[in-house]
Amino acid sequence: MSDTTAQPKSATKDAPSKPNWWRQAAVYQIYPRSFADHNGDGLGDIKGITARVPYLKELGVDAVWLSPFYPSELADGGYDVADYRDVDPRLGSLADFDEMVSALHASGIKLIVDIVPNHTSDQHEWFQEALQSPPGSAARDRYVFRDGIGPDGSQPPTDWQSVFGGPAWHQVPDGQWYLHLFAPEQPDLNWDNKDVHEDFIKTLRFWSNRGVDGFRIDVAHALTKDLSEPLPTWEELRHLMHENLPLDGTHPFWDRDEVHEIYAEWRKVFNEYDPPRTAVAEAWVPRPRRPRYASAEGLGQAFNFDLLEAAWDASEFREVIDDNLTLSSESGASSTWVLSNHDVVRHVTRYGLPQDPDTKNGKSWLMTDGKEPKLDRELGERRARAAVLLLLALPGSTYMYQGEELGLHEVGDLPEEAMQDPSYFRNKGVEKGRDGCRVPLPWTPDGASFGFGSNGAHLPQPGWFADVAVAVQENDPASTLWLYRRALEARHKLQSGEALEWVDNGNAEVLHFARPDGWQCVTNFSAQPVPLPPGEVVLASVPVDDEIPADATVWLKV
Ligand code: NOJ
Repeated sequence: MSDTTAQPKSATKDAPSKPNWWRQAAVYQIYPRSFADHNGDGLGDIKGITARVPYLKELGVDAVWLSPFYPSELADGGYDVADYRDVDPRLGSLADFDEMVSALHASGIKLIVDIVPNHTSDQHEWFQEALQSPPGSAARDRYVFRDGIGPDGSQPPTDWQSVFGGPAWHQVPDGQWYLHLFAPEQPDLNWDNKDVHEDFIKTLRFWSNRGVDGFRIDVAHALTKDLSEPLPTWEELRHLMHENLPLDGTHPFWDRDEVHEIYAEWRKVFNEYDPPRTAVAEAWVPRPRRPRYASAEGLGQAFNFDLLEAAWDASEFREVIDDNLTLSSESGASSTWVLSNHDVVRHVTRYGLPQDPDTKNGKSWLMTDGKEPKLDRELGERRARAAVLLLLALPGSTYMYQGEELGLHEVGDLPEEAMQDPSYFRNKGVEKGRDGCRVPLPWTPDGASFGFGSNGAHLPQPGWFADVAVAVQENDPASTLWLYRRALEARHKLQSGEALEWVDNGNAEVLHFARPDGWQCVTNFSAQPVPLPPGEVVLASVPVDDEIPADATVWLKV
């Protein structure tokens, strides 16, 4: 058993480094089961990541965010955690984890791990104990158990729907019901219970003591609930999601004010370390509610998914950038910029679809197995290259998702028998699910699984992966991989301060801004070339002469 008390600052494994390393970090998300498979069982693993640390170093990222690698029945891709303080044996061991941390740190790369505090797996020992304990027991109090309604309690306590579709309550053999905002295999924890508080603090110290530098907090806005009667009906709640949540924290389970008391507790733990551990909230809340999650007394940073939801459109981008810079000045945090992650259709594909509200998120395209509307692959790739240069020039941290550095498209035509995502099974006919962005990476143009492992991959890889494999792009200076490497290297040299000033260029379809010390970024969102402003071209998403072509970004030194 590893120690879960905080180690004194002087005894932490890492030498202290800059406490603000996260403010303008380029963070690379690894979805571990699909990154690299070392032992040839078809699932990516920890040793696979360690073996690829040189790749990450050459890419030039400052930190890795590792999606869940804990023991899990994989009812939700690892976000159903059976033990928060161990490694899934299929992915390796704690010793492998330590080795990975050392290898990352030796290459100057920080590590952020995912913490899933809203729900456990139904295989977690607490939930198993709760099932074997009677209603009203201490074991049941760690979760949200309720009696049903109707004469014999055979109806769920409310008619609420889970995020993945289907009812949000599941009945256990003795007749009680438990709440699961996600899949039934993900019972919600009761954050009014002190065991729950204590155990997560133990977990945060456990990983901090192993040298983890920060945490990504899963559905950070969900933990606290007010289930006092009378409870609203689903009809009253169904439209209250994300940007539409009430601004006064009165929703029964999303974004309640009390949740911040938890993060204030956690902040004290983070600050026991040197440098303090960082955290970033995954909180789908209205923009004005975000700064509190990102405050220095709370998690310290919060995801901004606004660009991920925006169309390829200059005015939308400009509004999102302005709003988020204002929000981050309110919280004191730096902003975060995200185009893709393991939950959404890859942005390279999204940008190749018509940019209308119905199509731009790619969900309808997935429902037709990638046939309708017609995807313009090349347009998507060009815009994605322009977009990443724009993001990397913004003040704040950029979170990138594995594979985007290859310009990887979504796999839109996975066969039904390959699907793993619960949102597909619980929402059939409405959601195709998230498997298409989780297909294991192609490292080589041939081999059993394009170099992912020696023995196939847990999701089928399409033939076109051969053309975009890492080894192919490494030989091609015009490739997206080279663009990412050059951009990350240049950004390290160019970045100073966190200021941004817009440069007026008289064209609403061109975004032009200046950062300190003469670094400028110009993105042409239009379909026509525009004149190249004065300055030395440091980097461009496509070749430029005296004009910036359509859908392109240029970095200038002025
Ligand atoms: C958000 C995660 O990003 C997603 O993958 C997961 O399904 C839900 N939270 C539930 O944990």
